[in-house]
Amino acid sequence: MDYKHIFENNEAWIQEKLNLNPDYFKQLASGQQPEYLYIGCSDSRVTAEDLMGAQPGEVFIHRNIANQIIPTDTNVNAVVQYAVEHLKVKHVIVCGHYECGGVKAALNPSDMGQLNNWLQTLRDVYRLHREELDCIEDAHKRFDKLVELNVREQCMNLLKLDHVQKSWYKTGYPKVHGWVFDVHTGRLLDLGLNMEKEFLAIRSIYDLKPIH
Ligand code: CO
Repeated sequence: MDYKHIFENNEAWIQEKLNLNPDYFKQLASGQQPEYLYIGCSDSRVTAEDLMGAQPGEVFIHRNIANQIIPTDTNVNAVVQYAVEHLKVKHVIVCGHYECGGVKAALNPSDMGQLNNWLQTLRDVYRLHREELDCIEDAHKRFDKLVELNVREQCMNLLKLDHVQKSWYKTGYPKVHGWVFDVHTGRLLDLGLNMEKEFLAIRSIYDLKPIH
């Protein structure tokens, strides 16, 4: 895509919106009330709004390499806290994708400079599920499985965050969902995780609720 073309696209997009609704940008500027927080991969092929058919204002979005929720990452922490406490989103989605470069790198140990730290938590996911993963003979199926397991672990990481737990105990929200985007078909797959049940199993370790 030509650099200059981006601004021509932008003009065309503005006209398209205004043709449908002359007050479109007036309404857009008045505020946001998204019901969803989407945490996905930075991969350029996984365009969150497009694949969900979402309109501006409907989804609060955070993307990083391999859709990770790392407790020391102030960026993702701030995004989650703002979405849960202030926007009061009803659903938080962690969306991974097949053919994820970050996940692939975690399966192939090598020195990747700055990326070493970032990929370490992914390698931890591999270690946690090593038995299951190493039993899968087909390398591509193993890769796909780690994509799915990473989504599950990141959903679990969400429930370890204090602001998520506080809101959860108070209101029952947000609901946490794990998805995978299949780049081969364009299909969104709901992993059908039951995170309330999953959290109950680890609650005695991670629960932050004060004991009375
Ligand atoms: Co990716």
